[in-house]
Amino acid sequence: MIRKTWAATLLLAGTLAFTGCKKDEPAAPKSLYDRLGGVNAISAVVDQFMLNVAADPKMARTFAPLVQDVVKNGGDPAKSTRFQSLRNNLIDQIGQASGGPQTYKGKDMVTAHKGMAITDDEFNSLVNDLVASLNKFNVPSTEQTELLTVLGGLKPQIVGK
Ligand code: HEM
Repeated sequence: MIRKTWAATLLLAGTLAFTGCKKDEPAAPKSLYDRLGGVNAISAVVDQFMLNVAADPKMARTFAPLVQDVVKNGGDPAKSTRFQSLRNNLIDQIGQASGGPQTYKGKDMVTAHKGMAITDDEFNSLVNDLVASLNKFNVPSTEQTELLTVLGGLKPQIVGK
């Protein structure tokens, strides 16, 4: 009888210690990628962002060759491999930068923007086009700030090249 009680006590103590340990473990913080909603949400944001860029007069100078390629393909962005390549590169770049499983396979930022002489004003306009898209999809300000901080860090590689 004494033995049985001891065994039960030990079992109870062990169970408590085990569950207690589990409960004390801090929940793994969710990556920015997960908080943004993963690849589907990021793709939707990028698609809207590209529409905003296409309609932004301040982007016309630098994006003229891309727009020409879309026009050459009957005005259908889905048929322009150049447009699709930029779209997929942006999804991969944002996915990777936010902690997702994607791997960015495009050019480095200096090479991609070389010769464009992008100004501060143009850079800010592009950021506004992105923010308009993030707002459209109700991305909370914490996640917007985190994403813009990561992308903003690329500015020295993009402006004035
Ligand atoms: C943080 C800001 C930016 C990011 C993350 C970004 C990202 C990219 C990426 C991933 C590419 C494709 C690279 C490749 O083809 O391998 C690209 C190309 C390009 N970017 Fe940016 N970019 C940024 C800012 C800007 C700004 C401010 C402008 C213009 C005002 C701009 C204009 C362009 C143009 C014109 C292309 C080439 C599109 C084409 O003709 O195919 N980018 N950018």
